[in-house]
Amino acid sequence: MPAAEGMADGLISERVRGLGSGVFARNDRRKQAYAAAAAAQGMPPLLDLSLGSTDLQPPAVALEAIRQQLAEPASAAYCLHGATRPFREAVAAWAQRRFAVAVDPDREVLLLVGSQEGTAHLPLAVLNPGDQALLLDPYYPSHRGGLQLASAQPRLLPLAADRGFAPDWDQLSAGQWDALKLMVLGFPHNPTATTGQQAWVDAAAARAVRHGLVFAHDNPYVDLALEGEAPALLRSPHWRQCGIEFFSFSKGWCLGGYRLAFAIGAEPLITALRQLKGVVDFNQSLALQAGAIAALEQAPQWPERLRPIYRERRDRMAAALTAAGWPVRLPSMALYLWLELPPQARAAGLDAESFCARLLEATGVCLTPGNGFGPGGEGHVRLALVHPIEQLEQGARRMGQWLAQL
Ligand SMILES: Cc1ncc(COP(=O)(O)O)c(C=O)c1O
Repeated sequence: MPAAEGMADGLISERVRGLGSGVFARNDRRKQAYAAAAAAQGMPPLLDLSLGSTDLQPPAVALEAIRQQLAEPASAAYCLHGATRPFREAVAAWAQRRFAVAVDPDREVLLLVGSQEGTAHLPLAVLNPGDQALLLDPYYPSHRGGLQLASAQPRLLPLAADRGFAPDWDQLSAGQWDALKLMVLGFPHNPTATTGQQAWVDAAAARAVRHGLVFAHDNPYVDLALEGEAPALLRSPHWRQCGIEFFSFSKGWCLGGYRLAFAIGAEPLITALRQLKGVVDFNQSLALQAGAIAALEQAPQWPERLRPIYRERRDRMAAALTAAGWPVRLPSMALYLWLELPPQARAAGLDAESFCARLLEATGVCLTPGNGFGPGGEGHVRLALVHPIEQLEQGARRMGQWLAQL
């Protein structure tokens, strides 16, 4: 093992080595070890609350459209850009209905293999090595990873709980803003589970225009605000001057495994990202695109049906954790709770990573350590509401019993 690692060190780029193993990979190893031990020793089964991968189902019309189109030979062929026009037209029509914005399907829309793919590739399309880019802290891990792959320099803007996680853009001087080439952020915000406000995004877009940088707004939760209305860059008057916004079928339509998403943005940014992706992929199969089109056109209300389910999960889980001695700040968006480490864990001197490791070993409940989302996530964990309420409440009881013994 050390010899193989030594060889790999020599052969693997600094860029990739700098990525480290990542919080999700570390968690994955721990989950596998727990699941194996649990099966052998009759421990409680793994309850995985560490990923935003939902148990809720996609619309049947989307799955049926995929099934039907799978039988067509064209679905097995490479899908060059022209073949994606029906998809891009469906996206433009959705943008018109959703945001009252007229979008050019040929120049301002791009199909993606998941929004993560898009946000991770964008820095390569718009930055030169050494350029600076702004991230919120905590951030979504691939936002940082994308900068690393492009040999760019991240500048972190800490979000504070006592400001309701509102970004304080004045933390940077005018000169520091001028030095930036890109900012990547998203509201509703993962991991703080904060819906955010249109005014925050508008202010960011105004800064981007004033200081001449690209604004990438990652918006896979646009339809999953539980309180308030989710902001969108497309609603901001400046989007065509500086912006690109990323949307996904993974959360609102529960199609995460199908890897379907799209970007809408200023033509030069869409063109640059398309050019970059031309080196990397050939677009999703027509069959998958058929499912995405059906979701947009025949099941546009699907995310609305998910919201009450997530709201009930949020409220019941918050009550269960509070009863177990773990105070909860109620989040304003679906899918996650962003929790400070419970007092018992802080008293025991545990950090986020060691808390999650010990919690998993002791209870079989897997959460994500907040430090995986940047230094600002230390002292926190993220819990994903991706199982039925009974399982979530059972998990809360298991965690409560363990906390009582800490
Ligand atoms: C902020 C954010 N962006 C992107 C993604 C990934 O979305 P997709 O499945 O479209 O790649 C996630 C998934 O959790 C996310 O939270």
